[in-house]
Formats: sequence, structure tokens, C-alpha cells
Amino acid sequence: MTDWESSGSIQERHREAIAEATADIKFEAWIDGSHHSATNGDTFETTDPAVTEPIATVPRCTAADIDTAVAAAQDAFDGEWGSLDAADRVSLMREWADELRAERDRLGLLESLDTGKPLEFAKAEIDGAIEFIEYYADIARSHGGKQIPVGDESLVYTQREPYGVCGQITPWNFPLYLLAWKVGPALATGNTVVLKPAEQSPLTSIRVAQLSASVFPHGVLNVVPGYGDEAGAPLTEHDGVDKMAFTGNDETGAEIMKAAANTITPVTLELGGKSPMIVFPDADLETAAQAAADGIFYNTGQSCDAASRIIIHEDVKDEFTAKFLNAASEYTVGDPLVEGTTMGPLAHEGQYEKVTEYMTIGTEEDGATVRTGAVVPDDPALEDGWFVEPTVFDDVDNDMRIAQEEIFGPVQCLLTFSEYDEAIDIANDIDFGLAGYVLTENASLAHRAAADIEAGLVAVNKYPGDDLGVPFGGYKRSGIGRECAEESLDHYTQTKTVNMHLDDPEL
Ligand code: NAI
Ligand code: MG
Repeated sequence: MTDWESSGSIQERHREAIAEATADIKFEAWIDGSHHSATNGDTFETTDPAVTEPIATVPRCTAADIDTAVAAAQDAFDGEWGSLDAADRVSLMREWADELRAERDRLGLLESLDTGKPLEFAKAEIDGAIEFIEYYADIARSHGGKQIPVGDESLVYTQREPYGVCGQITPWNFPLYLLAWKVGPALATGNTVVLKPAEQSPLTSIRVAQLSASVFPHGVLNVVPGYGDEAGAPLTEHDGVDKMAFTGNDETGAEIMKAAANTITPVTLELGGKSPMIVFPDADLETAAQAAADGIFYNTGQSCDAASRIIIHEDVKDEFTAKFLNAASEYTVGDPLVEGTTMGPLAHEGQYEKVTEYMTIGTEEDGATVRTGAVVPDDPALEDGWFVEPTVFDDVDNDMRIAQEEIFGPVQCLLTFSEYDEAIDIANDIDFGLAGYVLTENASLAHRAAADIEAGLVAVNKYPGDDLGVPFGGYKRSGIGRECAEESLDHYTQTKTVNMHLDDPEL
């Protein structure tokens, strides 16, 4: 691949990269094993957030296209795919993973351009996505039912059966990674998929569906790009969809649940967070400072499990804050294509507006102390992109809007506590419950806090806490169900009980 850094201006570099990443690819909907434009002929452009220039034109699909895709997915389920043995199915998933691995660098470049992620991080996420697909292929064959002892006259057993057509809606912050969390368990358990990627970053989702062309029977994996209200809502409301999965905003999640209620369709939701990190007085402060920085600056803060409220014991507050500000200053804002950049722009204009508004709210309305950031970089090369500086608010009270609302940007909030119960109260005084983080060298204290924090995942002395095979999902407003793990297979299958009368043997 090209060495982008040798190219001239940031604009020239990105134009060259866009040309290389998109060469010979038609970014169209992928339905029933072939390219489709939108039925109504409409399109939209996706934008490179580092330079705010267009990358590609994509069909703006609507209900008619969703109908076509759901019908194709149903046919595939009723046909060849539905009759495959588990062994054959998962070996096709492995073949697909091989296709993706062969195009890993290009997928990484495309993801970096479409979302603004630093190129090396984007490539690592592509590797992670491929590993998830292989992981689900690996574990699916041991996912079965059980036998239940009800007496000598009956044999009762259960088996796990796929639902059929799965509707899946993904966000723009980790497009391909989150696709793998959903498509992986759905296909491994024998379902078919209609996926609607986020309108801000649909390109890698479209491409990986194309890369399944020589592997999956037609209609097994369909990707239909479009806007939430125009393509997402019709998918959610479709009576041909047998199971829905969504990652995104909590209010959109509520809409999806309501729509699914009409057709009694089961939903899994992975929604936002405002996850606490408690720094106890005995914590290793270097580790804590790095975790607090990675927890909010990785992916420019656009992570559902971001550690976005740091609750620090008063005895170590000053020392921690100095180390944390130092770790924050080591994040390098810049061109995602240039080596050494660790923080790219926000992924799209709407997010830029939201984050900069919260910077103002924190400064003016909430009146917190700005320790660093709350501004855009003064580098002229970055002025066309949606860049912001790592931002740290100090003296934050948990009632402030910046402490209660999900900002989804590189904006850290520092809070202080003196007693254990106070730390737990602050941690739990929030509508969300996706993750919690605990920094201490004391194992008993770590276990106690892990038990007391209301969250689906508690990580001790590290960020992040998600991993291959580790259940990931929320308490409270952060969602329903768990992804990344064996139990995800349960969400994509339903239990059939077989209860069989046994005669007395008369031999
Ligand atoms: P969103 O939840 O509206 O969008 C996520 C996906 O849902 C996209 O594919 C979108 O097209 C689709 N969608 C939107 N409205 C829909 C509807 N009525 N029916 C069906 N699908 C629909 O989130 P958005 O607007 O992109 O971001 C807003 C905020 O949500 C962010 O600032 C962040 O706080 C949070 N968020 C959380 C994410 C997470 O990982 N938990 C991911 C993305 C956003
Ligand atoms: Mg984009």
C-alpha cells in the first residue's frame, strides 16, 4: 500500500487514499447476492471527517429495498442455508473470514477514511472483527439443548433453533467490529441477516458483504444502507423479521423496542453509557491515569463503554490529576493517515456539533473547571475536519449535565470522593449501566466494588474490559442482552422442547 505521509497536504493525501481505497468497488446495497441501487434511485454521500470531502456515493434505501432484502433472507433461510449442517455452515464462515483477512489492509483504510480513526487502530479493529467471526464459528457447534429428567415415562429434551431472518442495525463508531458482534452469532446459529449500517459510515459493511459473494448462498447476508427513519424503521417494523438487534442511542433503542412490540419480535439492545471509574487511594496512579485517558480518548471518545466519569479519592486527587493530564497530553490529535496520530476527528458533523456544545455547557452552564481542551486544534491543516482537543473538566458535580449525559466525545469529567459509600453512590447515580472501572491494589476492595457497581461489566485496573468471549452488555438504560460471548448464541436461537412419551418395554 501507499505511504500516505509522503503525499503533500492533508487534502492531497486523503484524495489519494480515497482513490486507492475505493478503486473498483461499487458501493451499493448487497441483496440476494448481488448489487442493488435504491428502488427510488436516491443516493447519499459518505464523508471523510478529517477533510470533510466525499468518499463515495451510496444508495439511500427505503422500505421497498428492505422488503426485497427480507424476502431474499427468508428464501435463503427456507432454502440452501437453512438445510446446511452446522459443520458446513461454520466452515463457510471461516472461508468468509479468510476473504476478509486477504483484504484487511484495504478494509482498514476504508474504515479509517469513513470514520476518522487512526489507520493503525482501524486495521486492528478489522483484525478484531475477523476474530469475532471465527470465534462464533468455533463455538456454535457446541451450542445445543439439554435433557430434563421428568420421570420414567417421558424423554424430554430441548434443542436450539434459529429464528430465521435477523434484522440488525449498527452505529458509526465501530462499524465493522460491531457488525461482527451481530452477524457472527446470527449466521453461526443458522439465521440469515438483513443489516442496516449507519448512514455516516456504511462502506466497510457493504464491502464485507460483497466479499461473501463467493462463499454464502444468495440472501444469507444482506446489507441495506440508508437513514434511520427511512431504512432502519421499516426494518424494525417488518413482520418478516424474526429477531432484531441494535446498537446505538438509548432513545432510538426505545423506539426499536416499541416497533418490535407490534410484531412480538425479540430485541437485543446495546445502548450508551456514562461509565464510572473509581480511583481508590491505594491505586497504582500511573495505571489509573493511563486507563482514564484511554477510557475517554481512544476512538475520540466515541465508545459506548467509555470511562467518562472519573471518581477519585481526595487523598490522591492532585497526584492522579497531574498524571492524568500528562497522559491526556500524550494523545496526538492529527491526520488519521499519519503514523503517530492517536486521536482523529469526530466521525461526523452531527457528533462534532454535539461534542462542542457539551464543551460550552460544561464551561458555561455547568461551571466546571476546564483543565485542558474544550477547544478545536489551532493547526491550520486540521481546520476543515471535525477535530477537537482532548478535554478535561475538573470539579465536576455528578448532577451536572456533563456528568449525567452521554457526550460521546473526548471529554473527561473528574469528580472527588472521601468515603467508600460515597464513591459507589456517585457511580450508581446514573441512568446507564454498561461498564464500571475500579482502580485499586486491594483485591478485597476490588471485589467489593465490583459487586456494588450497577453495570454489566466491571474492569479492574484496566481499560477496556471487553474481549473475545467476554459477555458485554448493559444494566439499566444501557440495554438488553449480551454480545461477544457464548450467551449471544442464546439470543439468536429459540428453545424447542420435545416431550416424548415412553411405553413400558414389553420384551
Ligand atoms: P442512533 O441510535 O440514532 O443511530 C444508530 C443507528 O440506528 C444508525 O444506523 C441509524 O441509522 C439507526 N436509526 C436511527 N433512528 C432509527 C429508527 N428510528 N429506527 C431504526 N433505526 C434507526 O445514534 P446517532 O444519532 O448516530 O448518535 C446519537 C448518540 O447516540 C451519540 O452521540 C451517542 O451518544 C449515542 N450512540 C451510542 C452508541 C453506542 O455504541 N452505544 C453508538 C452510536 C451512538
Ligand atoms: Mg463517514
